[in-house]
Amino acid sequence: SSEYTEFEGILFYPFYSVKNLKFCQEEFMVKDTDVILVTYPKSGTHWVIEIVSLIRSKGDNTWVQSIPIWNRSPWIETDQGQLLLSKKEQNGPRFYSSHLPIQLFPKSYFHSKAKIIYIMRNPKDVVVSLYYFSKVAKFFHTAESFSQMFEKFTQGTVPFGSWFDHTCGWLSLREKENFLILTYEELLQDLWGNVEKICHFLGTKLTEEEINLVIKNASLSAMKANKMSNYSVVSDEFIDLSQGSVLRKGIAGDWKNHFTVAQSEAFDKLFQERMAELDQRLFPWEQ
Ligand code: A3P
Repeated sequence: SSEYTEFEGILFYPFYSVKNLKFCQEEFMVKDTDVILVTYPKSGTHWVIEIVSLIRSKGDNTWVQSIPIWNRSPWIETDQGQLLLSKKEQNGPRFYSSHLPIQLFPKSYFHSKAKIIYIMRNPKDVVVSLYYFSKVAKFFHTAESFSQMFEKFTQGTVPFGSWFDHTCGWLSLREKENFLILTYEELLQDLWGNVEKICHFLGTKLTEEEINLVIKNASLSAMKANKMSNYSVVSDEFIDLSQGSVLRKGIAGDWKNHFTVAQSEAFDKLFQERMAELDQRLFPWEQ
């Protein structure tokens, strides 16, 4: 696969351009009405795009079955995302996604009232999910082995940089208004409660029946069956589904099937070093 793009010391997939990353940071105008989903890759981005899409259509799945997921919530830092957002508004106020670390995020956001949903996931499970994603995504340099992915992840030499930097950077906004933090683990544990929380954050009122529809239509099995969400309509030059799937196991704790004891201990140590100053209740997963 071709070389990653590098911008401000951070790696990006080869199809990202420095020109657009710069534009995104310096000139992209965030609007007060925008809703932006920010994640480190493999933390549950697609799941929450589906949930927000469904909340907007009150649980009805016509919209999620007619528009590809990456167009329903374009990635702002990609050329295609910027193009889509400059066209007419989507189904409601603009809704977009971003994997950018905070220092590269559009500067205009910091003077806006835009709403951000930041999703976190146990980084040990993120490594595992990335490892499988690297086999499927042709734009991701495939790891030769799990340990190689582990090394790159802990060194931060993967696209979008270090998980620790990304997370510490975005968590610095945790007291900000219009900033909602969710975790993948809590979504798994209490999807109902979290859908209600998202509705409240977005100012949307749904009936009990509509919330039930959101939950049903955003389930892993429903998403796997939705060709607008499972990447089967993308060319296999980008996503090669013969090598696995983008929507994979959808569980917490798969790291236990992949980490050696030594890797787990080294990771815990790094986590301690990097995150010790933060309130550990921010990380409600099993360490
Ligand atoms: P796994 O590889 O561990 O299964 P992202 O969307 O940020 O790329 O994250 C991908 C991860 O979210 C994958 O994790 C994927 O299976 C999981 N996921 C996607 N949709 C989901 C759903 N509806 N329910 C639970 N997990 C989901």
